[in-house]
Amino acid sequence: TTSSSSSTTTTTSSTPSPRRVKTASAQASDELVSIKGWVRTVRRQKTVAFVEVNDGSSLEIQCVLPLEGVDDATMEEINELTTGCSVHAIGKIIESQGGKQSVELSATSLRIIGSCPGETYPLAKKRHSLEYLRTIAHLRPRTNTISAVARVRSTLAGSIHAFFQKEGFNYVQTPLITASDCEGAGEMFRVTTLEIDDVEKLPRAKDEEGNMQAGVDYGSDFFGKAAFLTVSGQLGGETHACALGDVYTFGPTFRAENSQTARHLAEFWMVEPEMAFADLTSAMDNAESMLKFVVSTALEKCDEDLTFFGNFFDKGLKDRLHKLVNVPFVRLPYRDAIKYLQEEIAKDPSKWQFPEVEFGTDLATEHERWLAETKFESAVFVYNYPKKIKAFYMRDNDDDGGETVNAMDLLVPGVGELVGGSQREERLDVLVEKMKELDLNIDDYWWYLDLRRFGSVPHAGYGLGFERLVTYVCGIENIRDAIAFPRYPGNAEF
Ligand code: 4AD
Repeated sequence: TTSSSSSTTTTTSSTPSPRRVKTASAQASDELVSIKGWVRTVRRQKTVAFVEVNDGSSLEIQCVLPLEGVDDATMEEINELTTGCSVHAIGKIIESQGGKQSVELSATSLRIIGSCPGETYPLAKKRHSLEYLRTIAHLRPRTNTISAVARVRSTLAGSIHAFFQKEGFNYVQTPLITASDCEGAGEMFRVTTLEIDDVEKLPRAKDEEGNMQAGVDYGSDFFGKAAFLTVSGQLGGETHACALGDVYTFGPTFRAENSQTARHLAEFWMVEPEMAFADLTSAMDNAESMLKFVVSTALEKCDEDLTFFGNFFDKGLKDRLHKLVNVPFVRLPYRDAIKYLQEEIAKDPSKWQFPEVEFGTDLATEHERWLAETKFESAVFVYNYPKKIKAFYMRDNDDDGGETVNAMDLLVPGVGELVGGSQREERLDVLVEKMKELDLNIDDYWWYLDLRRFGSVPHAGYGLGFERLVTYVCGIENIRDAIAFPRYPGNAEF
C-alpha cells in the first residue's frame, strides 16, 4: 500500500520525493522509496550501520547504510541516532541477506525527524516485562508485542463488522448512559454531573499524593435522575431486533466489579448480536460461524504477528486457532458438565480450588478451563443453566421442571468464558412474574416490557467479550494487554 501524497518528504529541490511505502507491504524493487518510523536499535560497524526501524505496519525493517555511500548530512545523523528517534530513510528495498526479515532497505539517506534522549526514554532497552509496559501505556504501542496486539485487534474488529454485514445484520449504536441494569448484578458505575463549585473543589479533592479524598461532594446525578454507565447493550439491541430483525452492537461496556484478575476489566468492548425469530440454537450457530470467520481472517491477514506470538508466548497458538476454525464446537448441557466435573474432582479434590460442584454452581474459571482444555480440547458451549444463577431476561425451559433457562456460555481453551448468551423471555406474564421474584422495579422497564406487549417474538442473542477474544487469538496471558488503555481498579490515569 502506498500512502497519500501528504506523506511525501518536504523538500525544496525540484526532484520528486520518493514514494513512501509501509514496511508491511515493502517489496524488493529498483524504485527509490522512503520509509518513516521510529528507531528500535542502531548498530554501527566500520563500514556499515544497521538501523532497525518500526513504522507500525509490521514488526520492523532493517535499514542498511553503507557508510561510504551516504551523504555528509546522513553521516552526521547516524552519529546522533538513538533508540526512539523518529526518522525518514530513503533507499531501495532489497531481498534481505540476514534472513530475519524477507526484505530490508538499502538506504542512501537518513534524517532524524524527532530526536530521543536515550537516558530518559522509557523504552531504551530492548526487552521489558509486560507489567512494566502497562505503566507506560502511552508509549507501549511502540513495542513489538503491543503493536502486534493492536494490529490483530484492529483486524478482528474489522472482520466482526464484515461478518455481520455479510449476514445482513444492521449495526446499532446503543447508549452508554442508561438507567437500566441489564445483568441485574448491581455492578454499575454511577454518572454524575459536575457543577462549577465541584470543579473548583477538584484540586482540593486530592490529597498530597494525588489520591481522591473521601467525603467530597462531586455534584448531582444525571440532571436530577439516576443514571449509570451501561453494563451491556443488549436491552437496546432487543428493541432494534424486534424491528429490524437481525442487529448487532459493538461498543464499550462497564462493570464496577472489583476484580483484579487476568480476565476482567472495568471497561471492555462487547459485540452483541440480537436476532428476532430465533432460539438458543440459532444463537449458538451464529456465535460459532462468527468466531470461525473472524479467527480464520486473523490467520490469513495477521500471519507475521501470529507467528511472533507463537514464537514468544504460546508455541501451540496457530494449531489451536486452526482447530477452532476447522472442528465443530462441542455442545454440552450444564447438567452433563457438572457430572463430568464431579467425576474428575472426585479423583483428587485437593487439586481444585473450588471442589464443591453441584447443580446450581456458577462455574469457576478452573472448571471452565478444565472442560475446554482437558476434557474436550475444544471450544465448548455449555447450555441450559440453572435459572437461579442467570439473568432475569432469559427464557425458561418449558420441559425442565422450571429449573433451567435457555442460556449458553462458550468456553475456550486458555481463556475460559468467551461468550455468554441466551434466548430471551418473550412472554409478558412470565417475564413480569420473574422480575417481581427478583425484586426488580417493573416501572423502570416499561419500555422493555412493551416489546412483549406489542407483537412479541421469540428472539435470542449473545455477548462476546472483545478483549477476551484478542487475548485468545494472540495467546497472551493478561487481558490488560489486549486493550490500549486498560481500566481496572486503581488504574484510569492515561
Ligand atoms: O456474560 P455477560 O455478562 O453477558 C451479557 O452482558 C449479556 N447481556 C450479553 C448478551 O446476551 N447480549 O458478558 C458477555 C461476555 C462474557 O462472556 C465475557 O467474554 C465478557 O462479556 N465479559 C468481560 N470481559 C472483560 N471484563 C469483564 N469484566 C467482563 N465481563 C464479561
